[in-house]
Amino acid sequence: MVMTADIGVIGGSGFYSLLDDAEEIEITTPYGAPSDIITVGRIGGRTVAFVPRHGRDHRFPPHRIPYQANLWALRSLGVRQVIAPSAVGSLRAEYGPGTLVIPDQLVDRTSGRAQTYYDAGGAVHVPFADPYCPVGRALAYSRAEAEGWNAVDGGTLVIIEGPRFSTRAESRWFTSNGWSIVGMTGHPEAVLARELALCYTSLSLVTDHDAGVDTGEGVTQEEVFAFFAANSERMRTLVGSVVAELPLDRACPCGEALNGIKLPFELP
Ligand code: ADE
Repeated sequence: MVMTADIGVIGGSGFYSLLDDAEEIEITTPYGAPSDIITVGRIGGRTVAFVPRHGRDHRFPPHRIPYQANLWALRSLGVRQVIAPSAVGSLRAEYGPGTLVIPDQLVDRTSGRAQTYYDAGGAVHVPFADPYCPVGRALAYSRAEAEGWNAVDGGTLVIIEGPRFSTRAESRWFTSNGWSIVGMTGHPEAVLARELALCYTSLSLVTDHDAGVDTGEGVTQEEVFAFFAANSERMRTLVGSVVAELPLDRACPCGEALNGIKLPFELP
């Protein structure tokens, strides 16, 4: 059976229950295996491919996630739009746990992660001034508002290498630069999506105040995991409604990212 999907979701393991008529597919890519077996199913009238970002058993820490394989696998299934929920820390006192930020910018503070498909065979420079899909962002924000989230339209997500959390000094520096939230997985996920001309929308759920804003002992893994788990039902509902309403005809620039560029290989 040939399985295809319109929309990809990369997120925590709670999303399986969203999918009707789910089937599993094991995919290999030129970049190795994705984080886990991919589940393809239906939500509303859409077919959706779900990748558990850290693996079903959460075996991949953020700096070891096979980001290249995940995005490649989604595109090879026919996916052109990706919705990416994740946990983030807040760099602003006014964005408390439970705030949902739909970022419009990112800053890459990772190091050593494979962040391009175009390593050889000629120069490919994709536009990345606006890393997120404007249509996906607008829909995500309006759905989040409608579903009662404390939602924020826009903001800068800084992505750190991890797996440790930031020091207070790093965190204060991020805040002083005007950045809003901090996470560990948003890069290179967003740029690899752009390099495959996919739409990419981040749903960033604040689970904690990062060390520079926090007046206590700083962030703990326990706090982050527990908060995300407690909100996973709400997040599932939001992802489900965004997926169901996302227009499949793309009226955004994301699909044109590679126009006029000679690629060293064919895209899947
Ligand atoms: N993910 C959730 N909270 C975080 C934080 N404070 N820093 C980095 N990544 C996070």
